[in-house]
Amino acid sequence: SPEELDQRIHDVRQKLGTDVTILGHHYQREEIIKYADFQGDSFLLSQEAASRTEASYIVFCGVHFMAETACILCAPHQKVILPNITAGCSMADMAPMEDVDDAWEDLQDVLGDHGGIIPVTYMNSIAGIKALCGRNNGAVCTSSNAPAVLKWAFERAQRVLFLPDQHLGRNTALKLGIPLDEMVVWNPFKRLGGNTPEQLRHAKMVLWQGHCSVHTRFTPGQVQSARDRYPDINVVVHPECPMETLEVADMNGSTEFIRKTINEAPAGSQWAVGTEISLVNRLALQNPDKTIFCLDPVSCPCSTMYRIHPAYLLWVLEGLAAGEVNNQITVPEQMRQEANVALERMLALR
Ligand code: 13P
Ligand code: SF4
Repeated sequence: SPEELDQRIHDVRQKLGTDVTILGHHYQREEIIKYADFQGDSFLLSQEAASRTEASYIVFCGVHFMAETACILCAPHQKVILPNITAGCSMADMAPMEDVDDAWEDLQDVLGDHGGIIPVTYMNSIAGIKALCGRNNGAVCTSSNAPAVLKWAFERAQRVLFLPDQHLGRNTALKLGIPLDEMVVWNPFKRLGGNTPEQLRHAKMVLWQGHCSVHTRFTPGQVQSARDRYPDINVVVHPECPMETLEVADMNGSTEFIRKTINEAPAGSQWAVGTEISLVNRLALQNPDKTIFCLDPVSCPCSTMYRIHPAYLLWVLEGLAAGEVNNQITVPEQMRQEANVALERMLALR
């Protein structure tokens, strides 16, 4: 029963003490986030993983790429555990290593003598892509620092290959004043990503054709109907939403930006939110003096974040108490070192 799960998680945590730290992403369900020693967006969680050196085990309640990042950044004596090994990210899955390696090779061939290109990957990607960025003067970014990282990249090369979220890439490039006609989309199923060499040479941004299935559900029509119902509404969305949705929203930012903005807003204010439903529901619960709802009337959970169930958390914690490490996330050493270079470049920027 939920009560028994709760009691057992409580008891085993007492037993494990500070040897285990639990990190939780804002999209985790309520029954999980209540156990987190620290909760945050991808950026804050990566900083936290790098600094919590006292714990031997980091139990990461989030998705696979986040746990992998924690594993790259944490100290050698620490082990990172993902309670449910199937908690992936459909966006990260849209950029498999072989396709990215092929694309990178093709881009070198076409652009090598034409001002070059730097790879920048969103945190939501596999470790191998972060390593490719580390080897090729590139960096990682998150939704909270994408403009700073892109600016940094454009100080070093004429072009950027942005992986794997085309929307975050496009929205961030627009913020930096790069016009749409200097952006191309790279479709991994087509030769040269579906572009001609001339189009690639003209482009400043090459956007990998990936997207988030949760955030692409938010539309300008939903923004309009929220405004029709509540003329004073504030609309805040995540930058993984399509450009057209950002254009009509009042503001956009990372999950931490959304959380902070709404928590600090005056009583009585009204908020329509374009992000994952667990965070929206939590904000509504914590701010009963404000009107807060999800832009999409059919609520949109991230199905992989949802795979972290209290029963899995209990299983890994009781395993640790019995001397068993289950679901440890590891990254091969060379890949870890190269990916770390790209992550450190990002961390140094802020
Ligand atoms: P944040 O970087 O804003 O936490 O977002 C992570 C994510 O997966 C959003 O879909
Ligand atoms: Fe991946 Fe989208 Fe889920 Fe974020 S919300 S973890 S990008 S599928």
